[in-house]
Amino acid sequence: MTGGSPLIVGNWKMNGTQSTLSELDAIEAEGAHRRVKVVICPPATLIATAAAVAKEIEIGAQDCHAGNGVAFTGKLSPAMLFDAGARWVIVGHSECRACAGETDDTVREKAERALEAGLAVIVCVGEPKEARDRGRENAVVLSQLTASIPTLAGAALTIAYEPIWAIGTGMTPTSTQIEHMHALIRRALIDLYGAAGQSLPILYGGSANGSNAAQLLSIAGVGGLLVGGASLSAESFLPIVQAAAARREQQLCSVTSRRIKNEIN
Ligand code: PGA
Repeated sequence: MTGGSPLIVGNWKMNGTQSTLSELDAIEAEGAHRRVKVVICPPATLIATAAAVAKEIEIGAQDCHAGNGVAFTGKLSPAMLFDAGARWVIVGHSECRACAGETDDTVREKAERALEAGLAVIVCVGEPKEARDRGRENAVVLSQLTASIPTLAGAALTIAYEPIWAIGTGMTPTSTQIEHMHALIRRALIDLYGAAGQSLPILYGGSANGSNAAQLLSIAGVGGLLVGGASLSAESFLPIVQAAAARREQQLCSVTSRRIKNEIN
């Protein structure tokens, strides 16, 4: 994990009604979210109410349109999402790429317009099963990444590595595979953005849950988690937030002990 506070993002996908928002109260009542950064991305229908209910958890959208004020029935622009209370948006999720026929160019345009509208942006990348089986995962992820991220680095940019075969399946890559991919993404970000690429968070997503969160967060280069199914209730989401808070505490302790050692020497 990189130096900053872990970022835990819950993606509710096409789930949740007004009554589900009580889960936000339950998460905030427990308190572990204060030691890390927690974002919940409910469906668009709940963004405004979720933003009014949540006191500390930030609210995000699951997608946006790249246009602004154009005639596009059923779509939501980044400015509209910001106005509704969203401060984050996920773009390029594999479900959107697959169902909406979204290209890397569209994802990049969405990311650029969303940053301009003041939203923090999470760009998702990840390989399908066939690509990993054929040993093509590096090439696929790198080409997706370089074509999907904004041309100019923005501090409000986060990358999520989500192997498609791990989403909702209960399968996860090995720690070595995740570490390797995160290192590859980091190198590409530095190549593209220079020093600015050094600190952008890189999340892991795909079947993260309360049982594997601590292990996933301990992998070098993993700056947090993008969580689908396990984010739908406080009961399943809280252990993930708690694992992140424990990880943060470990990081702070090791920084303090290094500082003390340096002062003594
Ligand atoms: P999952 O979904 O945690 O249910 O696998 C992750 C995602 O799609 O972002």
